[in-house]
Amino acid sequence: MQMDMKRVEDFMKRVEESEKTTFQPVSEKLKVGVDLGTAYIVLVVLDEENNPIACEKKAADVLRDGVVVDYTGALQAVKDLKAKLEARLGRELVNCAIAMPAGTESSAKTHQYVAEGAGFEVTNILDEPSSANAIYQIQDGVIVDIGGGTTGLAILKDGKVVEVEDEPTGGTHLTLVLAGNYHISIKEAEAIKQDYSRHKEILPVVKAVIEKMATIIKRYVSQADTDTIYLCGGTCCLTGIEGIIEKETGIRTIKPTNPFLVTPAGIAMSCR
Ligand SMILES: Nc1ncnc2c1ncn2[C@@H]1O[C@H](COP(=O)(O)OP(=O)(O)OP(=O)(O)O)[C@@H](O)[C@H]1O
Ligand SMILES: [Mg+2]
Repeated sequence: MQMDMKRVEDFMKRVEESEKTTFQPVSEKLKVGVDLGTAYIVLVVLDEENNPIACEKKAADVLRDGVVVDYTGALQAVKDLKAKLEARLGRELVNCAIAMPAGTESSAKTHQYVAEGAGFEVTNILDEPSSANAIYQIQDGVIVDIGGGTTGLAILKDGKVVEVEDEPTGGTHLTLVLAGNYHISIKEAEAIKQDYSRHKEILPVVKAVIEKMATIIKRYVSQADTDTIYLCGGTCCLTGIEGIIEKETGIRTIKPTNPFLVTPAGIAMSCR
């Protein structure tokens, strides 16, 4: 079964809207996903029927390769975001789910302590690439989550995750290459990268890095047994990234219009 792109697009559009608009929940109980990323910390709130209710995010530099390196910073960021959401909703948030990049399960405790320290009760702990499948709901294929510092893969067969992998590459590398190429600061390079009107111009500059990411994907999946690569993660916002990956791997590659909030929304969906 292929991914129902229209359903995913509609849902993700609603999650995106919930950053600005607070929607009315149909249930008393709310589900929260806490995504501690290398580049962003994101909290997504859904109601019991998985309707997007509210979302807050913050750029943060408190993780390296998926591991929390600044506990106090991470805790403060989650506290701030939780307080913002609670002010918007007029009520307290209690339960949350969290996710770990594959292979960093040993740091699960740190993630958990951050969430608990901020006042959450952690009801579910997942791995990151698998959480995206709560949204995509694919049976077969590979989900590739390209974030800031890490690229996570989840290989699915008959609706089950059979393998998860994590590689230390992501958007940060693209930023470094842009900074080097234009002789500008990391901050300026980051701004250029996130400016959609500059994507056409910067794509050739970062093409080799994306090809390298594609060869990493190829290490885990082959044309013979994978018919589609499903992209998510902030770096996949880059216009044209799917074409480079498709060409390099020889595997059909697709992404929703906004792949940025897929993983945090999937984490929220898995909250109990
Ligand atoms: N419009 C955009 N175009 C290109 N890249 C973007 C865009 N928006 C965000 N990014 C990049 O996406 C990355 C962040 O993505 P995401 O939030 O998925 O990562 P993360 O979860 O914080 O990190 P990780 O999963 O590696 O721990 C950053 O490198 C950022 O520069
Ligand atoms: Mg991430």
